[in-house]
Amino acid sequence: MKISIVGSGYVGLVTGACLAKLGNSVVLIDVIEEKIQRINSRRPTVFEPGLDAVLSEAVGKGALRATADFSDGIGTTELTFICVGTPSRDDGSQDLTQVAGAAESIGSVLKEKSDYHSVVTKSTVVPGTTLKTVGPIVERASGKRAGVDFGLGMNPEFLKEGDAVNDFFRPDRVVIGAVDAKTRERLSELYSPLGVPVFHTDCTTAEMIKYSSNIFLAARVALVNELGNVSKALGIDVREVAKAVGMDRRIGPLFLKAGAGFGGSCFRKDASALSRKARELGVSTPIIDSVLMQNDAQPLRLVELLEGKLKIKGKRIAVLGLSFKPNSDDVRDAPSLKVVDALAVRGAYVVAYDPVASDNFRKLRPDIEYAKSARSAVNSSDAVVIVTEWEEFSDPMLYGTKPVIDGRGITKTENYEGVCW
Ligand SMILES: NC(=O)c1ccc[n+]([C@@H]2O[C@H](COP(=O)([O-])OP(=O)(O)OC[C@H]3O[C@@H](n4cnc5c(N)ncnc54)[C@H](O)[C@@H]3O)[C@@H](O)[C@H]2O)c1
Repeated sequence: MKISIVGSGYVGLVTGACLAKLGNSVVLIDVIEEKIQRINSRRPTVFEPGLDAVLSEAVGKGALRATADFSDGIGTTELTFICVGTPSRDDGSQDLTQVAGAAESIGSVLKEKSDYHSVVTKSTVVPGTTLKTVGPIVERASGKRAGVDFGLGMNPEFLKEGDAVNDFFRPDRVVIGAVDAKTRERLSELYSPLGVPVFHTDCTTAEMIKYSSNIFLAARVALVNELGNVSKALGIDVREVAKAVGMDRRIGPLFLKAGAGFGGSCFRKDASALSRKARELGVSTPIIDSVLMQNDAQPLRLVELLEGKLKIKGKRIAVLGLSFKPNSDDVRDAPSLKVVDALAVRGAYVVAYDPVASDNFRKLRPDIEYAKSARSAVNSSDAVVIVTEWEEFSDPMLYGTKPVIDGRGITKTENYEGVCW
């Protein structure tokens, strides 16, 4: 199938490269020229295990290319995915500027295009957005009718950063919402080589499924962290507790890892957006709101525990791990941001290290020191805080007798304190 993808970030790039590997012809569209050049020269714009090989093969065999030209990208394809960002506004509500911009550009190309084109939202958008925002904008710009002259659908993305390529080829399910039969058929055909369950529904339900999945996962993490904080106060290792709790089939073992809190571009943003939307509708969301509160406070526990070990003011503190999870360079909403800020407020001199995310973190926090290796960060510091569970932080020899606050349970050293154990 001939596919175009608007937005070549984590989701757009991974989706595009993997769809090309499945035998489709893919054009990625973005507004950032540097991203386009990198993709066309086979260099991923994000760090994702396995992505460089899939991208290189796809570009090499002419199955994938990137462009800034919407008429070229949309005009030569039959289905377009919208994969642009949907960040939070200051009040937590969803900022749909990028989605509206993408829909407008798609619509103006469809005005001149005669064959039937499908427009599919893949970005995570507040329920109702595909029907009430994307569709009407494309209709206005193209002068055509959704579901009649062009197709409209919603196909949420469930990939996990750090394992995104794997997730693309082995998803638990694919959710397809569509207004028209042609778009539903095209999406079904596109995913059929994966041989996984496909859940067909309407666009707004598909949007709600994505929010509900993310909020469910976020709530599990916040709950196990809260149970972890209580366990630690009782002298109990919550990791033991979680193991046995997870053996209950009604609960299951995944997402029961206590630690320094969740981060990343999705959980906080999506929980806030749904909570704001609910407020608009006159519905209260006390559970979602407390998940966010719990998670905002959790990274600060690392600093509080460190304070119990030494006087932070004037000390050099190594912060190991800046990305929100291992195998990713994404620092959006990472717990490390809160840890670094709290250390700085208490008068520490922060030396940070991450195997791949330092450059991204530097853009947000240019004033701290960045070490070239975990060893040099640790050796030059008075104490260590581990925020992300990169494998290379597991070696106890790295730390000697330095005080270590471990937010992820990645190691065990002589002078050690875990966040929930
Ligand atoms: N990152 C994840 O793990 C993940 C997982 C599932 C779903 N999602 C959702 O997918 C969406 C995209 O997330 P992401 O992490 O890939 O975002 P991102 O910020 O990495 O990428 C968005 C891209 O869209 C481009 N863009 C913005 N406006 C544009 C326009 N008008 N035309 C063309 N390109 C434009 C940007 O330049 C950028 O390259 C979001 O809604 C997010 O919530 C993300």
